Amino acid sequence: MSPAEAQQRKAELRAKIAHHNELYYRRAESTISDFEYDRLKRELADLETQFPDVGGTTITGGGLPQNRSSTAAAANVFIGHNPTYYQSVFLSATAPAIESPTVQIGDDRTEGFARVKHRQAMTTLDNTYDEAELREFHARLAKALGTDDLGYTVEPKIDGVAVSLTYERGKLVRAVTRGDGEEGDDVTVNVRTIRGLPQSLRGAPIPAVIEIRGEIFLGDEEFRRINQQQEEAGEPAYANPRNLAAGTIKQLDPKLVASRKLEVVLYGLGYCEPAVVDSQSAYHAQLKAWGLPVVEQFWTVRGIDAVWAAIQELDRTRRGFAYATDGTVVKLDRFEQQRHPKIGYRGMAADGRAEAARKLSPRWACAYKFAPDRAETRIRDITIQVGRTGALTPVAELDPVFLAGTTVKRATLHNADEIARKDVRIGDAVLVEKAGEIIPAVVAVLLEKRSAGSQPYAFPRSCPVCHTAVTRAEGEVVWRCPNPLCPEKVRRRIEHFASKASVDIEGLGEEMVALLLEKELIRTIPDIFRLKVEDLLPLKKSGEVWARNLIDGIEARRTADLWRVINGLGIPQVGSAAAKDLARTFRSLDALAVATEADLLRVGGFGEKTAAAVRAWFAEPTNRKLIRELEMAGVTPTPPAAASSALSGKTFVLTGTLPTLSREGATAKIEAAGGKVSGSVSKKTHYVVAGEEAGSKLDKARSLGVEVLNEAQFLKLIEGG
Ligand code: IVH
Repeated sequence: MSPAEAQQRKAELRAKIAHHNELYYRRAESTISDFEYDRLKRELADLETQFPDVGGTTITGGGLPQNRSSTAAAANVFIGHNPTYYQSVFLSATAPAIESPTVQIGDDRTEGFARVKHRQAMTTLDNTYDEAELREFHARLAKALGTDDLGYTVEPKIDGVAVSLTYERGKLVRAVTRGDGEEGDDVTVNVRTIRGLPQSLRGAPIPAVIEIRGEIFLGDEEFRRINQQQEEAGEPAYANPRNLAAGTIKQLDPKLVASRKLEVVLYGLGYCEPAVVDSQSAYHAQLKAWGLPVVEQFWTVRGIDAVWAAIQELDRTRRGFAYATDGTVVKLDRFEQQRHPKIGYRGMAADGRAEAARKLSPRWACAYKFAPDRAETRIRDITIQVGRTGALTPVAELDPVFLAGTTVKRATLHNADEIARKDVRIGDAVLVEKAGEIIPAVVAVLLEKRSAGSQPYAFPRSCPVCHTAVTRAEGEVVWRCPNPLCPEKVRRRIEHFASKASVDIEGLGEEMVALLLEKELIRTIPDIFRLKVEDLLPLKKSGEVWARNLIDGIEARRTADLWRVINGLGIPQVGSAAAKDLARTFRSLDALAVATEADLLRVGGFGEKTAAAVRAWFAEPTNRKLIRELEMAGVTPTPPAAASSALSGKTFVLTGTLPTLSREGATAKIEAAGGKVSGSVSKKTHYVVAGEEAGSKLDKARSLGVEVLNEAQFLKLIEGG
């Protein structure tokens, strides 16, 4: 490669990495796998060593490429587990540097959150996929410490979202994302909704202040459940649990966060005053003793061969873990050795000054990552799926290939932009991968195998089903078929209405919907309720019993639960949970149809986006017509059982900040249960719901002997009916 070519390739790689950093950290998306991303960084790091930039200093990572799930420290942050060992890290004045993304690690900070400085930086971590490099890591440490007999811990590397929890005198006071490593977003309210996380430490010793680090994640089952809801709501599925966890922890609505079962696992030590343990293995035991959620398994071993054996064993057991594990983290066990002057942090000079703070990564730890399960195959065709909301999703039809226990025949290509960016073409040899991700994805095109006559893929400009020109809303990547009468949209809408998740009409599955449409016995959802046995008889030989059963199944659903009917309408943003909220609040389709945005915003947990989506749906004349026709066809949905009489007429006063509920959310719940909310406490008040920093209202309640509830007790009262 000539120097000029190298400069150009470096520029390309930097742009690509920057693009993926933005997606991964700020938008909780990823369109390439970690493995692919690590490869880009490795290539750039190699080029930077071989062909240094001219006209400035390139700040390179030094050593191995760093993980994107990590961030560098910035200036003026302290490193070390115990204040007595702190070394402050300052940026020394250097020539203007060309900042390379091999060291410029992502920043997850987003709008809408308060920023909090970490007491101790959250640094990055070197990673490798190569056994020889892992052995070099050990060789460096052995040389520095003058012995080969070193104690290590081998831990799972959790593929989640990094978080730092501060406990003061044993109480959880703050949860902060990594941010840029120096300062992150305050996500305390969201983290408090994690059920498995104790708000106080148990037992002793309890440090005055400790930063405990870990990863927030979503289990596979919960991931599937949420994706199913997405599907019900006509929204695209999330690609993998990590991105969904990252997106969830950055939600501004804690109620939404609470509705998803986030979990957390803790393994890391930040600032701690006074010090409580002197090794990583003792720290794991201490975390467990405090009652905190910890890794299922870790190994304490001596020497690199034992490290390697532990890694092999972890590779065999990791699929049974609650979280996705994409590798291991090997750490020098004794803190004293971690702090040894020859070890410490890469990027920090002996005087504690960092030549560039962003270079900081521990020399005492190394991530060994498992290469993902991937396989080579060929794209036979690219087909376009049209969803219920008209979204066009490109799908690669593959030569079947065996991958991680299943035969893969199709893989998502995400959207038109992604196809263009990767230049994926029909006939291409490609690599498909399943790594933590449940949906297989095309991760790379093998350009060297591309046939001479291949043509770039032209994303359709019109709907492949009804040929209406497709449209794309500003700022969106999804192209949609705008035709409300598109037969594919109609089919999927009817299917969805009749499905188990919605109105649950027995006997009316995908095939039957398709058949009824084909025979022109139905065109719309209300048509289902106009079907007669005679209409169905010609469809099947000796079909009378069958036809009767189907009609009975339909009859039985004329009075389906209101929430099921609302869910079945396929309103964007509205899945079963939101449908239940709407049913409870409005109690009829007519009332819902005329609800204003303000009314909708009062529904517990409804944000502006959902309220606007509901409003827009009912503003659409074809949708209003659908509601009218459902009524005319004799559909009379059943509202939820009347609010518990125990609460009807009861007066509540809200005071202080509740951990998860907003004031509006709590009000909506009370009203939905038949209660009233009042602004001041009197003898007539039945309950005062008090949160943090509750003031005089709480005092008054106490003096009047009014029952005071915290949020949990309140929810129990409301939900327990
Ligand atoms: S140690 C300074 N241990 O992966 C040491 N990190 O890719 C850095 N991670 O920043 C952290 N599991 O967010 C450590 N067992 C584990 C981990 C782990 C997951 C994350 C963490 C870290 C990133 C590095």
